[in-house]
Amino acid sequence: MINITSGIMLNTMLLVLRNQNNSQDNSIESQPDIETEKCYGIYGCFSIVEPWVTDNRPISLFPKSPEILKIRYPSFSRHKAKIPYILDTNEPERIKPSRINPAGPFYFISHGYLESGDKLWIEKMTSTLLSLDINANATVISVDWRAGSSPPYVQACANIRLVGTMTAHLIYDIYSNLNLKNLDNFHFIGHSLGAHLGGYAGNVLQTDFGLKLGRITGLDPADPYFNKVANVVRLEKSDAKFVDIVHTDASLFIKGGLGLFESIGHIDYFPNGGSNQPGCNQGMMEYLNAQQGSIFRTLRQFLGCNHIRAYEFFTESISPSCPFLTMQCESYQDFTRGACFKCGEEDHNCLPFGFHSYRGYKRLVESNTIDVSKPLNVFFMTTDRESFCSMHYRITVNISASIESSTHGGDVGRLWMVLISRNGTFSERIPLEEHTGLHKPATQRTLVVSARDIGIPESAKVEWEYETNLLNPLTWRILMSPRVYVAWIHIESLEHRSGITVCPPQESPVIVNTPSYFQQHHCRNLSPIKISTKSRFVF
Ligand SMILES: *[C@@H]1O[C@H](CO)[C@@H](O)[C@H](O)[C@H]1NC(C)=O
Ligand SMILES: *[C@@H]1O[C@H](CO)[C@@H](O)[C@H](O)[C@H]1NC(C)=O
Ligand SMILES: *[C@@H]1O[C@H](CO)[C@@H](O)[C@H](O)[C@H]1NC(C)=O
Ligand SMILES: *[C@@H]1O[C@H](CO)[C@@H](O)[C@H](O)[C@H]1NC(C)=O
Repeated sequence: MINITSGIMLNTMLLVLRNQNNSQDNSIESQPDIETEKCYGIYGCFSIVEPWVTDNRPISLFPKSPEILKIRYPSFSRHKAKIPYILDTNEPERIKPSRINPAGPFYFISHGYLESGDKLWIEKMTSTLLSLDINANATVISVDWRAGSSPPYVQACANIRLVGTMTAHLIYDIYSNLNLKNLDNFHFIGHSLGAHLGGYAGNVLQTDFGLKLGRITGLDPADPYFNKVANVVRLEKSDAKFVDIVHTDASLFIKGGLGLFESIGHIDYFPNGGSNQPGCNQGMMEYLNAQQGSIFRTLRQFLGCNHIRAYEFFTESISPSCPFLTMQCESYQDFTRGACFKCGEEDHNCLPFGFHSYRGYKRLVESNTIDVSKPLNVFFMTTDRESFCSMHYRITVNISASIESSTHGGDVGRLWMVLISRNGTFSERIPLEEHTGLHKPATQRTLVVSARDIGIPESAKVEWEYETNLLNPLTWRILMSPRVYVAWIHIESLEHRSGITVCPPQESPVIVNTPSYFQQHHCRNLSPIKISTKSRFVF
């Protein structure tokens, strides 16, 4: 009883204070200016002057009213996995009888532009979170602001300011009604515009209630209107104790990217480099060529493949089938070159991706391993479909400079490999390079992934895919079948932290259409291999 009252009391006090501020001061400036400010009772006033309007956000609108937005907060727990209990910011008295467990954790999930709170991905993330919850103490709340998420985009950008504020009030109501000590157990997960909505909720909790959210995860935070703007206008790391960002469609909006490229969290994950996700490219290019209308293009893109990978990856990370390891590195290019490969060496720290990242991050902070004031950009690669999580291998290929090899000259083609483990399990067929290319005596290094975890590999099946090109005399092999003189291959596993060197039988070349089995014991004649940490070649 006391708690309900105090919740209402505080809201009322806020309203009174706001009105007091306006009425106490008789100067014209402090009157709500109907041109530049709109007020919604306890939720306060929303201005549309700077920093809400800048060069990067030429138009700023007022949020629509709570009556129009009709925000719903269906809540789920293990006991109510199918039929939600609807929470409402106007009815904090519904919180006590909801039997929400004060032990938590509490998850809020918000959709973005053009979507609603009952989308399949939210349902899937909710059920995955609840299936992890062995104590049945967790509550998952979907922020359903569908009435505010439709076009025009600029209006949706305005609406999330009010939705974020209302969500902050709901979080405060839960906090006060359930007698919680803090909000450490609250985790807000937002996609696209929903990510910035979470930022607003985190900000309002601090300014209006003096409370700091435990965590906000921004899943590909929207870029248009949030690129190079003031901190209050978008999600950033001061909005919660821990803010982590998944970038999956990060490139300039004019180039078709919808997600922010800037690092704005305590951790910024860049899966596959953060802009082009495997398995996403074809459809979109065809579509862009076929479609002229830019509005339709934009709408379609907002539900596009790269952009939605962010929540697909994150949902998988809740209960992953493999370690989902990420690596801190200066750039994605350096990462794929294999320049950042040893966990903990030279500021290249390893962290699990996504849901389970906080503990690893805390350990790095507590051991003073990282500078918290600097962006922590981490990289990893995935496969092109579910399950996305995969194992990383750094592969170093040495093409012999022997007389035989030199006499044969370069060959144009592509190397493939299958990793074979001690107990006979093997990986899928992995291309060692993206395109066919000329292979001359050299040592080349690259990073590849395997969807299957075979443990520590023991040998490898190596294949040479040769391409004949009528215009390129280099590819005219008439007297001799196409071949490549691979002397040795060094295979290192990021996840298992071990490596092996394998060689072909009798130093024989890999011949087209003939798989060659590389083994460790074939390397007898090899002097110890020194591999410089700087990659000399990029495939
Ligand atoms: C009222 O005004 C004071 C100072 O002008 C400010 O610190 C306070 O936050 C205002 N209160 C509200 C509820 O806006
Ligand atoms: C889960 O909630 C129960 C009370 O419903 C509490 O006794 C228990 O300690 C909680 N478990 C955890 C892990 O918080
Ligand atoms: C291939 O590896 C050997 C060591 O086994 C090394 O001496 C040689 O320089 C490498 N060849 C090239 C072209 O890098
Ligand atoms: C082989 O090893 C892998 C990885 O250690 C393991 O997952 C798999 O079950 C093993 N297979 C057999 C047949 O022992």
